[in-house]
Amino acid sequence: MLSREDILAWLAEKDASRLETLYRQADQVRRGNVGDQVHLGGLIEISNYCRRHCLYCGLRLDRKDLPRCRLERQELLQCVSQAVQRGYGTVVLQSGEDLGLEAPWVADLVEYIKANTPLAVTLSLGERSPQELRLWRQAGADRYLLRFETSSLRLYEQIHPSVPGQPSDRIALLGQLREMGYQVGSGMMIGIPGQTCADLADDILLLEKLELDMIGVGPYLPHPQTPLGRQFNLYRPPGQVPNTQEMTCKAIALARLACPWANIPSTTALASLGPGGGRESGLRCGANVIMPNLTPPAYRALYEIYPNKTSTYGSTDSGASLRQMIQSLGRSVGTSRGNSQRPQTPVDMDQ
Ligand code: 5AD
Repeated sequence: MLSREDILAWLAEKDASRLETLYRQADQVRRGNVGDQVHLGGLIEISNYCRRHCLYCGLRLDRKDLPRCRLERQELLQCVSQAVQRGYGTVVLQSGEDLGLEAPWVADLVEYIKANTPLAVTLSLGERSPQELRLWRQAGADRYLLRFETSSLRLYEQIHPSVPGQPSDRIALLGQLREMGYQVGSGMMIGIPGQTCADLADDILLLEKLELDMIGVGPYLPHPQTPLGRQFNLYRPPGQVPNTQEMTCKAIALARLACPWANIPSTTALASLGPGGGRESGLRCGANVIMPNLTPPAYRALYEIYPNKTSTYGSTDSGASLRQMIQSLGRSVGTSRGNSQRPQTPVDMDQ
């Protein structure tokens, strides 16, 4: 178990050779607990409608300039077929918080995918009602991703306004998802304006406390058409966490040490930071999952959570080069659904 002091010391560490020892340790813990296979999950961005006003996100409701779109069932199922053809273990259906994605429609879709493919189904559709989440679980959805974004309530409330009358409590929702029998994923952004190393240390401790099956950690990337993105260069409070590759790799390594069994992706946001092999760097310091983008190219530019998303403009995500990259690290491509290795407690689905 990591102490808060240890975490803080690593977050402050600048010496490259000492950081290598952290990455090596995380890599060993990864190998010992989840092995050398890199699991692939096909990301399908099914809708960019969103009812929220998150100050960091390019899909926020206030973006009146952004054309909105929702995939048709047939388009979506074509993406799902691609995941099957490429031998992926899961598809991740992701969207803004779009109430136009009606619960029975999603349930039907999940049921169809589970009945007709070997894929695990991972949903990442935002904060939906417990009734809806339960319906999707009963339809066969295996996993749900919902990042807490930051463990600092002060910061969370600043950047993630609640829907009026419905206070946003993602930690409580994560507990409910677990009780419903989902494999549960969460995580945070690195370098949110106003985030300190103390906040980040608390994020790592929260990952450990939540005993997550999946952990997504990526750098915050300023989007110029958002309030937080517009003020990014103006606002650098003392102790600000940088949104760099190094800080993200530290957080991935610490997440691995805190949650040895978790599935941890090397995120698209990390790869999007610029040249320098972002995806590889994540895989070297504790990550064991990659989520190639399967969204039809015509729609990708509209799912602009942050600018210059790697997969939007050419990518190394497609079949052969991705496999080559994985093999060049002495790893192999996952051959199973990549289910969580965390010991599970059985749940009664009818409750
Ligand atoms: N930079 C990086 N990550 C972002 N996300 C949303 N906006 C940004 C941004 N500007 C992340 C959030 C969300 C996930 C789907 O994308 O963590 O949970």
